[in-house]
Amino acid sequence: MIPQSFIQDLLNRVDIIDVVDRHVKLKRAGANYVACCPFHNEKTPSFTVSQAKQFYHCFGCGAHGTAVGFLMEHSGLGFVEAVKELAQSVGMKVPDPRSEPAQRKAEAGDDLYAVLLKAAQFYRAQLKAAPQAIDYLKKRGLSGEIAKRFGIGHAPDGWQNLAGAFPDYNATALVTAGLVKANEENRRYDVFRDRIMFPIVDVRGNVIGFGGRVLGDGEPKYLNSPETPIFEKGRELYGLYQARRAIRDAGRVVVVEGYMDVVALAQHGIEYAVATLGTATTALHVQKLLRQADEVVFCFDGDDAGRRAAWRALENSLAQLVDGKQVRFLFLPQGEDPDTYVRKAGKAGFEALLKDALPLSAFLLRELVSRVDLESHEGRAKLLQDAKPLVKQVAAPVLSVLLRGELARLGGLDRDEIDRQYGVERRGERRGRSHFESRREMLVSNERRILQCLVFKPELHRKLDVRFGGHPSTPVELFLNDLIAFTRQSPELTSSAAVIQEFAGGRHDALLREVEGTISEWREDYDVDQELADAIHKVAISSQQNRVKELLSKRVEDWTAEERSEYLLLLQQQPLTAQLSK
Ligand code: UTP
Ligand code: MN
Repeated sequence: MIPQSFIQDLLNRVDIIDVVDRHVKLKRAGANYVACCPFHNEKTPSFTVSQAKQFYHCFGCGAHGTAVGFLMEHSGLGFVEAVKELAQSVGMKVPDPRSEPAQRKAEAGDDLYAVLLKAAQFYRAQLKAAPQAIDYLKKRGLSGEIAKRFGIGHAPDGWQNLAGAFPDYNATALVTAGLVKANEENRRYDVFRDRIMFPIVDVRGNVIGFGGRVLGDGEPKYLNSPETPIFEKGRELYGLYQARRAIRDAGRVVVVEGYMDVVALAQHGIEYAVATLGTATTALHVQKLLRQADEVVFCFDGDDAGRRAAWRALENSLAQLVDGKQVRFLFLPQGEDPDTYVRKAGKAGFEALLKDALPLSAFLLRELVSRVDLESHEGRAKLLQDAKPLVKQVAAPVLSVLLRGELARLGGLDRDEIDRQYGVERRGERRGRSHFESRREMLVSNERRILQCLVFKPELHRKLDVRFGGHPSTPVELFLNDLIAFTRQSPELTSSAAVIQEFAGGRHDALLREVEGTISEWREDYDVDQELADAIHKVAISSQQNRVKELLSKRVEDWTAEERSEYLLLLQQQPLTAQLSK
């Protein structure tokens, strides 16, 4: 764990304009800088970077965050990596987690990286001495160059070969890394024996695990590293490190099921393929991929299992969709996988299939329609019912409208009726499209005004009465509550960026984005102290008014002595009486 105070110092020292400008050319526009958003396709710039407040915010797709968040999203770095890179750029040194005894996990993690790297080097060296393994790879059509690109190696046959690679074969890290196991008699042995070894590498190029394939037929065909503190399967994609450049250049990434598929595609010049690691595609996978490419194509076998896997991928994509980006599905002919197909059809043949891949919306509708009888009312009703939970997850406003339109047509209802059935407010659709709409929002609640002020200038939390808050229930109140708790816990906190860093991506994310949208238009000389004072004042008045109403709902004769004096006190408060007399 990197201490919160360090992140704050860092965010105070870097300039987000420099960081972003290194990747996306920024143009000055009034108080802010703008560019065409690197996270979605657009022709007119809605990507805004606030130098004063040190955050970025896209009015088009809603991407937002601090300099740290930008590096994570744009370069696909993990949090720690992004912090390290930024720190380096301003000559700061990230405190060594090892100096904190509580961070044992991190310490173990550092060992794991070293252990896995060493093992990968060992397996690679062993490949040279294993003609049968080299033969196998050749038979599968792989060149030495491709084997090198993916760091492919060979785990020799035998029970304790790793003892020759590591000075201490009994080290715990070898077990934690999943390289060594102990039997009942507590004798240790190598997990990977006589297997082709595919190192799994994270986005920084660190080895974090292995997949090991038997050379012939044998069970299990693939043996995979277990999850460890540094290896989470739902987060990682095989081949992403090697593919990153090609993905950028092609604007496209293909997701396949197997190690061999990725490697064989690269062998044939399709270098923008990655594989999930024997797990279903997660929302995190999709999110990661959509950040790096405008088009994600899932490629599955044409059998039932492939279709089921594709459906899972679809479900986990819905909430990640962004207008202007595409998710598509490619089903290979029965009995083929990308490896066998590309070997037969070559690069051009495979890319021709990619071109015709099914858009997510078409796959979704096709599947749902295939489950019902469209000729009957009951069938159409079921279609709309089945589609509802899926469509409601679609975050991309335009796509959502199109889907509902298509469903209305298929179901024989009109658009308004569908929207009513789905509980979709038309107004909501417009919200994402133009920030000018939000300006016209007539009624900004006072709590929301307070929230905006605190994000703009967090040290203002000191102006709030300690008792402020009470029983939060609306989203604004809940966020305000958490924000106040956060600022109180680190009273030295002074920057918007620190607040955004803390809350971006969390449960208040949507609201935070809206707040950013508003405050990015405030000028630096905006009298935020006055704005806050006014909002606090109004909140106080309205809570007094509510209390008065509450008291008056009882007959005055039934009041307790405390209630009577409370009422008198309330009445003495000028603004209250002024309000009530209106
Ligand atoms: P496949 O069985 O489709 O294998 O598994 P493949 O990729 O075509 O492999 P080759 O061509 O026979 O060498 C697809 C993926 O499922 C996981 C692996 O991640 C594999 O790449 N898998 C499969 C396992 O984890 N264990 C297994 O025993 C089999
Ligand atoms: Mn295969």
